[in-house]
Amino acid sequence: MSANASAVKISVTDLTKRFGDLTVLDNIAFKIKTGELVAIVGPTGCGKTTFLNTLSKLMPPTSGHVLIDGEEADPRKHNISYVFQEPTCLPWRTVRENVAYGMEIKGVPRGERMERTDRIMDIAGLSSCADLYPNQVSASMVQRIAVSRAFAVEPDLLLMDEPYGQLDVKLRYYLEDELVNLWQKLKSTVLFVTHNIEEAVYIAERILVLSDKPTKVKAEITVDIPRPRNFLDPKFMEIRHHVTELIRWWW
Ligand SMILES: Nc1ncnc2c1ncn2[C@@H]1O[C@H](COP(=O)(O)OP(=O)(O)O)[C@@H](O)[C@H]1O
Ligand SMILES: [Mg+2]
Repeated sequence: MSANASAVKISVTDLTKRFGDLTVLDNIAFKIKTGELVAIVGPTGCGKTTFLNTLSKLMPPTSGHVLIDGEEADPRKHNISYVFQEPTCLPWRTVRENVAYGMEIKGVPRGERMERTDRIMDIAGLSSCADLYPNQVSASMVQRIAVSRAFAVEPDLLLMDEPYGQLDVKLRYYLEDELVNLWQKLKSTVLFVTHNIEEAVYIAERILVLSDKPTKVKAEITVDIPRPRNFLDPKFMEIRHHVTELIRWWW
């Protein structure tokens, strides 16, 4: 496996998903490089969750391939992490035990598990509530735990399905910064789904814009804006406008 940043990590070809007569995903193809943070935007109902479900192999595609490091994606072989829209935590485990949970499942040895848990809780600002239980922390905190747990397994691919969609705008800005920080420090390969164009431009290195059903990748936009990004930067506004126009004339 190559750690080369320009290496192709994920390669999706001809991915099609039908539910009976309804074609949701239609011959989708794209590549993601190692350590890249790619956003997928498209309106509600276009098939974003279906797309992540087929990539993660939670749901079989009707046809097509998902390759990780050149091999067909296989949950027994590859580490695919998934952060769902509704945050999930085990209520009988503390915050710290929840962050470590994915690593336990993957069989990461105890010493390394402890070390990684401490590091990630520190980056994500969770250290002060390590010994609390999920019902003692806020909804946004629960989502931060889910995100931290997903990064902690050092996944081959981290899938995120509108993780901040339900949160108020101020919290969302804060968590987007935290996500970028985790991604920069841990160098994971991330595919982030959102219907929020501003969020996509703020976090991603590249944006895939989906079309209406049957869904294809309508455009790919590179976001070459230095970080930390500023919403009022003319370049930021230009890219946001461009993506907005693509979605406005959506078909
Ligand atoms: N299990 C299923 N059976 C039948 N239709 C489904 C199923 N899952 C999703 N769909 C349909 O596929 C389309 C895309 O849904 P979804 O992937 O949830 O969209 P998004 O996440 O972009 O809002 C919708 O029209 C939805 O009704
Ligand atoms: Mg969805």
